Amino acid sequence: MCKILILEGERSVLSLTSTAKLHNDVEMPRLGLGVYKMEDGKEVVEAVKSAIELGYRHIDTASFYGNEEGVGKAIKESDIPREDLFITTKVWNDEQGYENTLEAFDRSLNKLGLDYIDLYLIHWPVPGKFTDTWKALEKLYKDGKVKAIGVSNFLPHHLEELMKDAEITPMVNQIELHPELHQQQTREFCAANGIQVEAWSPLAKGKYFDAPVLKELAEKYEKTPAQIILRWDFQNDIVAIPKSTNKDRQQQNADIFDFELTEEEIKRIDELNLDEKGRTGPHPDEFDY
Ligand SMILES: NC(=O)c1ccc[n+]([C@@H]2O[C@H](COP(=O)([O-])OP(=O)(O)OC[C@H]3O[C@@H](n4cnc5c(N)ncnc54)[C@H](OP(=O)(O)O)[C@@H]3O)[C@@H](O)[C@H]2O)c1
Repeated sequence: MCKILILEGERSVLSLTSTAKLHNDVEMPRLGLGVYKMEDGKEVVEAVKSAIELGYRHIDTASFYGNEEGVGKAIKESDIPREDLFITTKVWNDEQGYENTLEAFDRSLNKLGLDYIDLYLIHWPVPGKFTDTWKALEKLYKDGKVKAIGVSNFLPHHLEELMKDAEITPMVNQIELHPELHQQQTREFCAANGIQVEAWSPLAKGKYFDAPVLKELAEKYEKTPAQIILRWDFQNDIVAIPKSTNKDRQQQNADIFDFELTEEEIKRIDELNLDEKGRTGPHPDEFDY
């Protein structure tokens, strides 16, 4: 059962099923479950099923994660109508190019056991490939096989290159983003172009939970540092996909709708920004493609 909580002010009615409206009017749940590094089989099946039981409706996987079959099994075994779920998968680097991407999409769809995907992303901006890959995503979108298409790990210069001869502007850019890595330029570029920003590693894999401001706010609101960070995402209109295989932590990550950070507290969390030094993953221009 999902809680709906009415908060005072502009941010009314936030809940686990709150959505962000993409520029093509598709509604994307603002909190999802990431499944990177979950083993295919029992681990991912149980994690996805428990998240769905808790009320999560958005699951983020990728062909690279090797667990699409398990995600599909969990979806099948849950009683939730397909249209109530939002499933993302991604085309991996060695699957890019026009024809290869169309084939990769069919493989993902088969493994997931679905007949459409909600959001299909280019996982990384592989130089010399991603514009052709985008053309394949546009075809999949026009053919009705995906509800929305987007990119991941794209910096403004990648987006500019892609958009130069794209018919469709990406609906989403999924990037590493957390209080220690703000990605301000990319966020501004996305905002100016109607592209929804989605945070991967929103918790920075737990690396910075000890920051005094997070601990202090956690104490004040009787929450955990993880919940303070996810609330910061919410109040910054960032879609977040924390990963947890543990049901209690999944519940905790979804229990962020009964408090609101003040503007001043948000600014204090913003001060944790380390820019490039805050990255936990590769820089898109330095990735070993
Ligand atoms: N597009 C890309 O290139 C890209 C790259 C990386 C990730 N992603 C996506 O983003 C998702 C999330 O990123 P991530 O998995 O790297 O990192 P994350 O969500 O920032 O952190 C996950 C880690 O934090 C732990 N954790 C989760 N909730 C917690 C809580 N409430 N308290 C304490 N620890 C907690 C998890 O352990 P337990 O599981 O034991 O709870 C796990 O070790 C991925 O699963 C994937 O779907 C995308």
